[in-house]
Amino acid sequence: MIYLDNAATSWPKPERVYETLGSFLRDSGANPGRSGHRMAASAAGAIDRTRNRLAALFNAPEPERVIFCFNATDALNLAIKGALIAGDHAISTVMEHNSVRRPLKAMEKHGVATTKVAADAEGFVSVDDVRDALRPNTRLIAITHASNVNGALQPIADIGQVAREHGAFLLVDAAQTAGTVPIDMAELGIDLMAIPGHKALMGPPGTGALLIGERVDVDELNTVREGGTGGNSEEDVQPPQLPARYEAGTHNTVGIAALGAALDYLADIGFEEAGRHELEMTWRLVEGLTGGTGITILNPSDPEQHVAVVSIVVDGWEPAEFGTTLDSAFEIACRTGLHCAPEACQALGAFPRGTIRLSPGYWTTPDEIDQAVHAIRELAHAPLEMTS
Ligand code: ALA
Repeated sequence: MIYLDNAATSWPKPERVYETLGSFLRDSGANPGRSGHRMAASAAGAIDRTRNRLAALFNAPEPERVIFCFNATDALNLAIKGALIAGDHAISTVMEHNSVRRPLKAMEKHGVATTKVAADAEGFVSVDDVRDALRPNTRLIAITHASNVNGALQPIADIGQVAREHGAFLLVDAAQTAGTVPIDMAELGIDLMAIPGHKALMGPPGTGALLIGERVDVDELNTVREGGTGGNSEEDVQPPQLPARYEAGTHNTVGIAALGAALDYLADIGFEEAGRHELEMTWRLVEGLTGGTGITILNPSDPEQHVAVVSIVVDGWEPAEFGTTLDSAFEIACRTGLHCAPEACQALGAFPRGTIRLSPGYWTTPDEIDQAVHAIRELAHAPLEMTS
């Protein structure tokens, strides 16, 4: 199979991720933080290791400000529902995934006002439009770092500056960039950042984190889940200490340990090398499809301004039908439809049918890209041939 669905989740995973998933519960399967015995300490050590690695990778102020979540959606829910209260205003954009759109919509029922900033035909948001959307009570600006539909990279550093000047928090959805685009939270002015562990970071599903910047005080980020933390058991309220304040209940220890193994692997090969390879495969794909009969590429025209996500539409084909045929006839895996980002598809002129999305990853080879290009070009001719 030619796997071009890495924007949904990366596959395959490094061998050491599979090995950790296979051995961790056998060797270190106790509950960290709940018991003092050596197996619990071993599990706690694995969690700490992954936490430290993530803090260093993204320049979080301290490891304790890395809050483990189930995925990026879970992290975004904590950030949005934790930071906003009745009377606040939040700004987002039409390029957002449902993981930002839906929690913000839900907060409207709790007295939060929201504004969505438009995007241009290539999916870019303007900093001036974000600035113009500010209100005195704007508390949060929530924006995706790169679109999961066409990969468009947003001007995060400039938007971070706008947020700082206004006294609002900047929340970044780094689902498509964490692990593939260098991110320094302090330098970019990011106050809250949601990351998945299972995409470019190459960990397993069920892992993710919210990284909390130094401007965010714990009093300004409410809990959305309360429960046992292994400490302060005599209290009936959540302890104020990080990360326990936001990490109620037993961790996904095996997943977090395997994410740590993935981070070790990426550190060994070099994060930049992994990101560069994905981009090279993406550029090869775009180049191969450019000019193809009936094929429209919806990516930004500047190859430096998008990540490893390519969306196309093909004349005469429903995206879903095209994707099914790519799989059945050529064993090529992609994603089709609205990609949980309907307004982004609208901005790109691909609503309501959506797009055919191909997302290369670290393991994608030039030969696989060439085979995909050949298959897509061949299918693009098929409807015309069938009707003639
Ligand atoms: N958000 C993921 C995607 O874009 C699942 O496919």
